[in-house]
Amino acid sequence: MDVEQAKKRIDELRELIEYHNYRYYVLDDPEITDAEFDALMRELMALEEQWPELVTPDSPSQRVGGKPREGFATIRHVVPMLSLANVFDAGELAEFGRRVEAALQGREVAYVVELKVDGLAVSIQYEDGVFARGATRGDGEIGEDISPNLKTIRTIPLRLRHPVPGLLEVRGEVFMSKESFARLNERREEAGQPLFANPRNAAAGSLRQLDPKVTAHRQLDIYVYGVGYHEGTAPETHAKVLAWLAELGFHVNEHIRRFTSLNEALAYCEEWEEKRFELPYAIDGMVIKVDSLAQQEQLGATLKSPRWAVAYKFPAEQAETTVEDIIIRVGRTGVLTPTALLTPVSLAGTTVSKASLHNEDIIRERDIRIGDRVIVHKAGEVIPEIVRSLPEKRSGGEIVFRMPDICPVCGTGVVRLEGEAARRCPNIACPARLRENLLHFVSRNGMDIMGAGPALIDQLLEREMVRDVADLYRLTVEDLASLERMGEKSARKIHEAIAGSKENDLWRLIFGLGIRHVGEKAAKTLASRFLSLERLMEASIEELTAIPEIGPKIAESVTEFFSRVQNRRVIARLIEAGVNTRRQAPAEARDLPLSDKTFVLTGTLTEMTRQEAMEVIESLGGKVASSVSKKTDFVVAGENPGSKLQKARELGVKVLDENEFKQLIANH
Ligand code: IVH
Repeated sequence: MDVEQAKKRIDELRELIEYHNYRYYVLDDPEITDAEFDALMRELMALEEQWPELVTPDSPSQRVGGKPREGFATIRHVVPMLSLANVFDAGELAEFGRRVEAALQGREVAYVVELKVDGLAVSIQYEDGVFARGATRGDGEIGEDISPNLKTIRTIPLRLRHPVPGLLEVRGEVFMSKESFARLNERREEAGQPLFANPRNAAAGSLRQLDPKVTAHRQLDIYVYGVGYHEGTAPETHAKVLAWLAELGFHVNEHIRRFTSLNEALAYCEEWEEKRFELPYAIDGMVIKVDSLAQQEQLGATLKSPRWAVAYKFPAEQAETTVEDIIIRVGRTGVLTPTALLTPVSLAGTTVSKASLHNEDIIRERDIRIGDRVIVHKAGEVIPEIVRSLPEKRSGGEIVFRMPDICPVCGTGVVRLEGEAARRCPNIACPARLRENLLHFVSRNGMDIMGAGPALIDQLLEREMVRDVADLYRLTVEDLASLERMGEKSARKIHEAIAGSKENDLWRLIFGLGIRHVGEKAAKTLASRFLSLERLMEASIEELTAIPEIGPKIAESVTEFFSRVQNRRVIARLIEAGVNTRRQAPAEARDLPLSDKTFVLTGTLTEMTRQEAMEVIESLGGKVASSVSKKTDFVVAGENPGSKLQKARELGVKVLDENEFKQLIANH
C-alpha cells in the first residue's frame, strides 16, 4: 500500500467509524456488532501507526487519550458562561413567568423545559466544523482547557455532521450515569480512595484529569443545551437550535418539551419531580427557558444569570431512620467496609435498609453510633449514605462502634497502610478475597489460563476444590471433568492450559499474585530488575524505591505482601508445583553461549553488583538460581561466600572466583 492508498482507506475508515459511533452513542441504534466496530478501529490505528503523518486531531483514534498533559491551559469563553437563578416551588416559578411576560409587554411566550442534569458545564468550540477546543466553565469568563479529555467522550463529535463555516461554540452538561457513578465509587472504596460525593463531582474529577486516559475510562456523556456563539445564520428559536444541534451530531436530551404556557411547563416539571428516580442519570431540577431567541435578547441578563431562563430545583431527598447495627463486609481486595443496617425507610424511589459507612474515620467524624437516629440521603440518587447522626435524640443506650483488629472472615490481623483510611485483610487466601484473586491470577494479563473464567472458578470454590491460587496446579483432569458442563475434552484442555502457565514469564506471576498497586507495568519492571521471584521477595523498600519507576506506595505494598506468612506459604506451594519464578531469557537465548547453563551466586563481588552479574548471565542466555543442586553448572563465589560454596564442593559443582567469572564473560 502506498501513502495515497493509505490515505484513502484511512478517510474511509474515519467516516465509517464516526458514523457507527453516532449510531451507537447518540442514536442508541447500532448497525454493526462491537467486534465489527473494534475491527474498524484496529485497522485505522494500524494504518495510522504505519503512516503517522496521516494522523489528524479529528481522527477517531484520538479519542482514546493521548499523552498526559503538564497542567491545564486556560481558555477565555467567547461569550461569558452565566449560571441560572433558582426557584424552589410553583409560586416562585409563577413569579418568574410574571416578570418575563411583563418585560415582553404581554406578548405570547412559549417555553422550553429541559432536565437539569447534575454534571459539569462545558463549552466546546468548532472551527469550520472541526473540534477545536473545549473548556470547563471556570469562573464564567475563563475556563480550563480540557480538550483532550473532552475528546474521549464519544458523543462529542470531532467533526460536525454538516458543514458549519467559521466558529461555533456549543454548551452542554458533561455527566456520569448513576450506574457508572456507583461502580466508580465502589472501586474507589475497595481501593481505599476517597469517594465522590455525587455524579457532578465524579464528572468534574474525571474531566479534570491531567491524563486523558483516565477520563477515557470514566464513561462520561454529554447533553448539549445551547449555543454560546456562532457565525452566520442560525435558527430563530431555542427548540430549533436544539434540533439543529442534534442534526450536527450532538447528544440532545430526549425529554425536552416546548409549551405555550407556563402552567403546562410547571406541570411537566412536577411530573419529573416524581419520575426522576427512574432516569439512568441524576437530575437536580428542571430548566425553563423562553423559546424565542429574539425574546431572549430582549429580556437580556443580569451580571450573573439570564432573565429568560430559570432553574426549578428539586428538594434533596432525605429521610430519618435508626442504625440498628454496624456490620463489616470484606471486599474483594480485602478492604473492611463497615455497613450500617438501618430500619427500612423509603427514600428517593426505593426502600433503604443499608448504608455503607465507608471507613472508620467517617464513623468517628460523623459520630455515628449503633442505635442512633440518623438522617440518610442518596449520593447521586443511588448510593444511600448517612448524612449525620441526631445526638439530641439519644437515649444513652447507643453503642460506640469499634473496627475489628482481625478479619471477620479469616481471622488474620488487619493492616492499615500509611495514608489510607481503609483497613484491609492482608491474607491472599482469605475466602472473602479468594474469588477475585483467582480470577485475577488466571486473567489474560495475569497467568493467562485459557478457559478459566468465572464459571469455572465459581464451581471450584463451591466444591472447595481450591483454597488458594496454588491449588489450581493440583487439579487433575478427573477433578475438572467432574464439574458441571465440562466434558472430558475441555477438562483436558484446561488442564493443559494450567500446566502450560507454569512456563510463563515472571512478570505474569508477579502481576497475577494481585499485590496492591502492582499493575502490569510495575510487574514487568520488577521482573526485569529482580529476575526472580525469590530475589523480589527479599527486596527492601530502599532497593525497590531505587528503581525509577517504583514509588514508595508500590515499594511498601510489595514488602508488606511478601512479609506475610500466608502469602509466602502460597508462593512456596506455587514453586513446589513447578511454576516458573525466573525471568525468561529471550527466545533466542537457546543459541546464546551460556544457554542451558545454571549459575548460583554467593558472597560479594567487588567489581559488579549481584544485580549486574545476574543481568550479564541472563544476557548471555544463562539462568541464575538461588540454591545449589546437582543441576547447577557454576557457582560464582565472591568475598565471604556462604554455605552455597560448601554445598558446591560437596556436589562437585564447578566453582568460579570473581576473576574466572569475568574471564568467562569476557570470552563470550
Ligand atoms: S442553561 C445561561 N440548561 O445548570 C444559562 N443549564 O446554573 C446556562 N445545567 O451551569 C445554563 N442542565 O451546568 C442549562 N438544560 C440545561 C442544564 C443546565 C444542567 C447546569 C449548567 C449550568 C447550571 C445552571
